[in-house]
Amino acid sequence: MTTTAAFGTLPSKDLLTIAQLGTGDIETIFDAAAALKAGRSEHNALLKGKRLAMIFEKDSLRTRFTFDVGMQDLGGSAVFMDHRDVRLGSRESLKDMARNLERWVHGIVARTFKHRALEELAANCSIPVINGLSDYLHPCQALSDVFTLTEKWGDVRGRRLVYVGDGNNTCHSLVHVAARLGAHMTVCSPEGYEPNARVISEAMLMARESGSDIRILNDPEAAVRDADAVYTDVWASMGQEDEIEERSSIFNDYRVDEEMMAWAKPDALFMHCLPAHRGQEVTAPVIDGPNSIVYDIAENRLHVQKAVLVLLMRDKDA
Ligand code: CP
Ligand code: NVA
Repeated sequence: MTTTAAFGTLPSKDLLTIAQLGTGDIETIFDAAAALKAGRSEHNALLKGKRLAMIFEKDSLRTRFTFDVGMQDLGGSAVFMDHRDVRLGSRESLKDMARNLERWVHGIVARTFKHRALEELAANCSIPVINGLSDYLHPCQALSDVFTLTEKWGDVRGRRLVYVGDGNNTCHSLVHVAARLGAHMTVCSPEGYEPNARVISEAMLMARESGSDIRILNDPEAAVRDADAVYTDVWASMGQEDEIEERSSIFNDYRVDEEMMAWAKPDALFMHCLPAHRGQEVTAPVIDGPNSIVYDIAENRLHVQKAVLVLLMRDKDA
């Protein structure tokens, strides 16, 4: 019989942003993820009888499957509510939605257009709310990204991650995790597409404690020069479809191709949250090449999110 006490605890009810987590909390998640990854069968009743509501305003493959399969692995269940045709808050207030859901389920994962919608759900219920991606942040992705790097390197401290492209939700959470854990972080975006100023100032504060060096640049060659890993994401995120054409020309020099990877350190890893557009933000030889770890990251979404589910949803004294 496995108890969950060994997994430790997280300080907050919800996981909306990495900024809610300290360095030790991220280590707690990584330790639990590694344990869950190593011993699936002994953990298959950790969330027995627990139900997760999944509310998605946008498409998803990885986040939807990994949370659903993760709940099943842990002995619980998940109910998916497709909100792609109806914006959250339009049929009834988010407050009422939260107050209903907490009577039926033990946790919520939501993928929303507005980050504020997640905050409103979380503020109005006693059950955990997990950010499955908002317009602002993608914390579960970033935890899985850096967990995968710890598997490859042992420790990310002092390594340099270089994110090339749009300063978006994926980028913001990656900057947060890197800054918390003492990895150096460079973001290289076209002018006007740099990461959010609040994220950068939060990261700068974290970096003072962790020793992370954070740089925001516009020149890809200068940025990628000392990269241990190069990360990119789509040029137009979900909800920005009408900007695709304009962004394609603005981001043209920010495509991660073999020439760009050659500027990085030898054996630099390639990372992407997926879905990817081959020929746009990354070329096929790079994403399908030997240094790409995109499917390892996708696999780890399952293990890391199972850790988050256990840490937030189990009975804390079990
Ligand atoms: N990376 C990621 O979140 O993938 P999905 O959009 O498919 O969930
Ligand atoms: N930045 C992308 C990430 C998808 C996982 C988007 O928001 O569409």
